[in-house]
Amino acid sequence: MKSYLPFFCSGTVIKGFGRGSKELGIPTANFPEQVVNSLPKEMSTGVYYGYAEVDNGPVYKMVMSVGWNPYYKNEKKSMETHIIHVFDEDFYGKTLKVAILDYIRPERDFNSLEALIETINNDIAVANVNLDKPEFISFKTNEFFSPNS
Ligand SMILES: Cc1cc2nc3c(=O)[nH]c(=O)nc-3n(C[C@H](O)[C@H](O)[C@H](O)COP(=O)(O)O)c2cc1C
Repeated sequence: MKSYLPFFCSGTVIKGFGRGSKELGIPTANFPEQVVNSLPKEMSTGVYYGYAEVDNGPVYKMVMSVGWNPYYKNEKKSMETHIIHVFDEDFYGKTLKVAILDYIRPERDFNSLEALIETINNDIAVANVNLDKPEFISFKTNEFFSPNS
C-alpha cells in the first residue's frame, strides 16, 4: 500500500459533466472542490479502488478516477467514484463516504471511447478481485462507515 493510503474522506455529491452515465454507461459520483483539495499532496493522479457508502446505506466496492481525465482534457482536477453496484437513482446532494485503499494505474488518454470504456471495465474487474483479499475486506466494516450499514 502507498504510504498515504488508506485515505478516508466524505462529501456531498455534485454534478459532473454527466458523461459518465450517458457516454460511458459507467456512472460516477463527483466530489466538490474542497474534498479534491483535501487529498494528500503526494497522492498521484490516477485510478484507485476501495469501499464507498452513500447516506448510511450499505458499503459497496468502488473504483475512483483522480485527475484531469486526459481523454476529455478537463481543466479542473476531479475525484469521480464509480460504485460497483447497480442503482436506480443518482446521488446528487447525498453524502458519499469513501475509503481509498489502493492504486491501479495512472490516467491515460485514449484513441477511442471504446478503449476508455474497456480500460475502466478492466479497472472494475481488478478492484472486484482485490477488494475480496483479507487486507482490504476488513475496511468494509471500518468504524468510518455507519455501524448499521
Ligand atoms: C475507474 C475509472 C477510470 C478512469 N480512467 C480514465 C482515464 O484513464 N482517462 C480519462 O480520460 N478518464 C478516465 N476516467 C474518467 C471518465 O472519463 C469520466 O468518468 C467521464 O469523463 C465522466 O465524467 P463526468 O461524470 O464528469 O461526466 C475514469 C473513470 C473511472 C471511474
